[in-house]
Amino acid sequence: MSDIIFEVKDVHYSYLGKFPALSGVNMTIRSGEKIAVIGANGTGKSTLLQLLDGLIFPDRGRVTAFGERLLEHSQDNEKAAHRFRQRVGLVFQNADIQLFCPSVLEDIAFGPLQFGVAEDEVNRRILEVAEVLDIQHLLDRVPHQLSIGEKRRVAIASVLAIDPDVYLFDEPTAGLDPLTVRHIIDFIVNANQRGKTIITATHDLHIIGEIADTVYVFGWNKSIVSGGSSESVLNDRSLLETNNLIHMHRHHHDGREHVHPHLPLEPHD
Ligand SMILES: Nc1ncnc2c1ncn2[C@@H]1O[C@H](COP(=O)(O)OP(=O)(O)O)[C@@H](O)[C@H]1O
Ligand SMILES: [Mg+2]
Repeated sequence: MSDIIFEVKDVHYSYLGKFPALSGVNMTIRSGEKIAVIGANGTGKSTLLQLLDGLIFPDRGRVTAFGERLLEHSQDNEKAAHRFRQRVGLVFQNADIQLFCPSVLEDIAFGPLQFGVAEDEVNRRILEVAEVLDIQHLLDRVPHQLSIGEKRRVAIASVLAIDPDVYLFDEPTAGLDPLTVRHIIDFIVNANQRGKTIITATHDLHIIGEIADTVYVFGWNKSIVSGGSSESVLNDRSLLETNNLIHMHRHHHDGREHVHPHLPLEPHD
């Protein structure tokens, strides 16, 4: 079907042929979907995003994007690779990997210039994305000197300036203060409302109700152990507990110890 963006079929991947990272993953992602991939550390979420972004390629199985198989040599075809890079943008968990120019402004301009966007249009986009991400005051700054939250917003702006159809976010809210988290969630929700397809890897259950309609849970077997609506996954305590996504809380009440699972959505003390 033409509205399918990614088809992942029985994908296996290991680093250097000996560190397994994904084992038999299947998923289909359609245009305009809002997807979260959740799982404990080391369950393969970042590896999946890199496969979807055509940075690495399966050892077994296949990844199809926009009806074409993503293959290493297809990236050698400069035109096809450019087309793909314009349609899919990955926001890395570590913004330092993504930001390499001497100024924020140049980092934001880099993508569109590389894709041959005219200079006037690039300048227009810089101002527009700087406003959306509230980083107008940072344009002349050196990226590596910024705070982690500022870097994350600049990294998102540099992808937004390319205006891809698909955004891949790797732990977009990790380590950020609540206001910046709010800003990034709003960005994701708005982008999706504008028709963008969003795939977010996260272990932050607080955000998935907003950033995802469909959630895939990755387990210790480095594959999908469950999937469904965000409500159904959030309500499945045993699934979340087995997969190390909620933790037990130990309280003292009137001198007695009390232990209960802590679902991060619930306020607790
Ligand atoms: N560059 C790498 N070299 C070797 N092993 C790696 C590398 N990156 C990730 N891995 C391993 O692959 C598995 C999946 O990692 P990753 O995709 O980063 O998981 P997650 O993003 O869910 O934390 C882990 O066991 C991890 O140790
Ligand atoms: Mg990761």
